[in-house]
Amino acid sequence: MTSRVALVTGGTGGIGTSIVKKLADMGCKVATNYRNEEKTRAWQEELKKDGYDVYIAKGDVSNPEECEAMIKDIETNLGPIDILVNNAGITRDATFHKMQATQWTDVINTNLNSCFNMTRPIIEGMRERKWGRIIQIASINGQKGQYGQANYAAAKAGMHGFTISLAQENAKFGITVNTVSPGYIGTDMVMAVPEDVRNKIIAQIPTGRLGSPEEIAYAVGFFIPDEASWITGANLSANGGQYMGW
Ligand code: CAA
Repeated sequence: MTSRVALVTGGTGGIGTSIVKKLADMGCKVATNYRNEEKTRAWQEELKKDGYDVYIAKGDVSNPEECEAMIKDIETNLGPIDILVNNAGITRDATFHKMQATQWTDVINTNLNSCFNMTRPIIEGMRERKWGRIIQIASINGQKGQYGQANYAAAKAGMHGFTISLAQENAKFGITVNTVSPGYIGTDMVMAVPEDVRNKIIAQIPTGRLGSPEEIAYAVGFFIPDEASWITGANLSANGGQYMGW
């Protein structure tokens, strides 16, 4: 594959780190964003020990101005962005009748509005260059809903609505737009779910285990090569068989 420039938001997280490594293994120059510089520099050093040279740029995905500055920084230093993975995400779980307005807006801003903030400044360049890959990391819970996650499920379902509209608008420009919907993966986010609740969830997964971040990175990598250029607007479930709907 020609060397492409890839930006993975939330690249320092559990799934994010695996996606960063996967895209680097595929020959891409990879960048991610940060909010906490010290923590991210330490992460960058760790990856360097394994031979991964990842560019980092400051910016909170929920803030449009910071996204524009982050993208400018990356494009100045690495070149035009060819691959965008909208991966950054948070949870603020609560049953809806107890949910505070900030729990709603924080999740919608970080998980869904980030797709606008990040994609809008990048897409025009992709259209001009007639090649692009935009991948949303949504969730099984955006497909099936989840007790305690009205905010998160709304954002994640919204991400796929975004995918299928952008896929139609940009198909003629060599840009594919797809969603990967991970199930429960053994990351800090899932390990933060109370143990008894988590064990009940694992009991519902046909594979009988949590997924690994590498299994999600594999699904992301699937959409990148030129051989995948006919696949756009797809929602690829990677959930151990826990949900087999759309
Ligand atoms: N189905 C039916 N009832 C459920 C339920 C479920 N799935 N989960 C909880 N309940 C019930 C409890 O049994 C309890 O019932 P009783 O009152 O009759 O005893 C009641 O709901 C508790 O409700 P509360 O409003 O008091 O809830 P809480 O304050 O104790 O906490 C919660 C609820 C925060 C939602 C907690 O259950 C929880 O953390 N659930 C896990 C949510 C989850 O799956 N998050 C995923 C995070 S990881 C992720 O998001 C990554 C990804 O993409 C997959």
